[in-house]
Amino acid sequence: MNSNKTVLITGATSGIGFELARLFAKERYNMILVSRDIEKLEETAIILTNEGASDIIIIAKDLAVWHAAAEIYEITRKRGIKIDVLVNDAGMGEFGYFSDTDLEKELDIIQLNISSVVHLTKLYLRDMIKGRGGKILQLASVAAYQPTPRLAVYAATKAFVLSFSDALGAELRETNVTVTTLIPGATDTDFFHKAGMEHTKAAHHTEDPALVAQIGYKALMKGEAHAFAPGVRQEVFKSSLLPNRHVAIMAEKQMEEEDDSNED
Ligand SMILES: NC(=O)c1ccc[n+]([C@@H]2O[C@H](COP(=O)([O-])OP(=O)(O)OC[C@H]3O[C@@H](n4cnc5c(N)ncnc54)[C@H](OP(=O)(O)O)[C@@H]3O)[C@@H](O)[C@H]2O)c1
Repeated sequence: MNSNKTVLITGATSGIGFELARLFAKERYNMILVSRDIEKLEETAIILTNEGASDIIIIAKDLAVWHAAAEIYEITRKRGIKIDVLVNDAGMGEFGYFSDTDLEKELDIIQLNISSVVHLTKLYLRDMIKGRGGKILQLASVAAYQPTPRLAVYAATKAFVLSFSDALGAELRETNVTVTTLIPGATDTDFFHKAGMEHTKAAHHTEDPALVAQIGYKALMKGEAHAFAPGVRQEVFKSSLLPNRHVAIMAEKQMEEEDDSNED
């Protein structure tokens, strides 16, 4: 590989993950890109190479499959690649009342948003501690602080990511490995379409993914514990003042239909 540093990014082909990947490309990182769609990975690798990335390896894996994380680790281990930065970005939601939503899809979401994050973090963290240190970026969400009706499983997975990452960051404070959690609010990506919630208020009031990525990247490089997207810190503060059930009722408002008649 050409450059000194290597980043592994899951979910690098779209949205926040793609914008994060562009920032690493600018800094001439070697990159390992992971998502499911091989064609999108190939297209993304071309874009990132044009934007300055050094060597790029693409790995098409479905992180909702329990052994995917170990397979990704094996691929990099066999090639002797040391990961300096791990970005656990890939994630999905599923909109709807829990009594109606598809259980299999939700179990996949738990595997993707929680288990694969724990698994990849475990495998690469051990090497980082033994080796030259490292940085880990975890994607949580404002939903981590807000139990969210009609997005109940997703919000709970993000609460896990936040809790896990804060505990891990504290465990590692005397080491040269840092853990940063990025906390976006609603962001203008394919997330809402994939979750079946394009019609909701949340999907109509979104932040630029490039800005969210920049905020996350800066905090990651400084080794900060948290990176809040614009407006999120205030929402988190409001949520901290109320009992969880009230927070859930407040969050539910964002899951209501957007009144399109207000739009131009
Ligand atoms: N957008 C928001 O409003 C928002 C707010 C807070 C937090 N977040 C979090 O931000 C992260 C990125 O989401 P985004 O909004 O950028 O969504 P996105 O545009 O839909 O991008 C998701 C990325 O993850 C990959 N991915 C999805 N399922 C996968 C799987 N099973 N295995 C491997 N890769 C998979 C996707 O590629 P393939 O589909 O080709 O696999 C894509 O590259 C997620 O963790 C999300 O929960 C988003």
